[in-house]
Amino acid sequence: MKRIPKRSYDRINNKIYEEEGGRWWSADFSLNLLRALYNPFRVGYIKIIIEQAKINFEKVTVLEVGCGGGILCEEIAKMGFITTGIDPAEQSLNTAREHAQENHLDIRYEKASGEKIPYEDSSFDVILCAMFLEHVRDLPAVISEISRVLKDNGISFMTRSTEHT
Ligand SMILES: C[S@@+](CC[C@H](N)C(=O)[O-])C[C@H]1O[C@@H](n2cnc3c(N)ncnc32)[C@H](O)[C@@H]1O
Repeated sequence: MKRIPKRSYDRINNKIYEEEGGRWWSADFSLNLLRALYNPFRVGYIKIIIEQAKINFEKVTVLEVGCGGGILCEEIAKMGFITTGIDPAEQSLNTAREHAQENHLDIRYEKASGEKIPYEDSSFDVILCAMFLEHVRDLPAVISEISRVLKDNGISFMTRSTEHT
């Protein structure tokens, strides 16, 4: 697998997740479109796939890599899954933590990148990579880490924006 071509990677603005990471839940912020436009279809899809999988539905562990302000993690936690989100942007994570607390949602958020996931092998039943793979420089390292922390028979969901292909 190749690394993301430099010309594609250079078009990505990862600074916004620190600089504007406090605005994820503001209706007038561009990234809030992930909640308004994407959540309605991706959340239902994820739920159906998990329900159909042969995993213990009572104790499903889900990791979202590149979770930003928690827009997808919160929906996953509301379904009753044991939810973890990681992201390198501290400001976005602070927003995610505050929002989850305000909404009484138990979500573990930790600062980490997809290239170095701070969990043991075979830790998660489900791993979500939503609109984040186009943000990383070393895609093979990220895929390798995801494979490592995903349980046998686990499920990974990967979406990326066609804008950046
Ligand atoms: C477009 S946002 C997607 C947020 C969330 N996954 C969603 O769909 O609602 C991309 C996120 O990827 C994160 N990110 C960028 N580089 C990353 C890396 N190397 N490892 C993990 N996350 C990264 C950014 O900080 C940002 O929060």
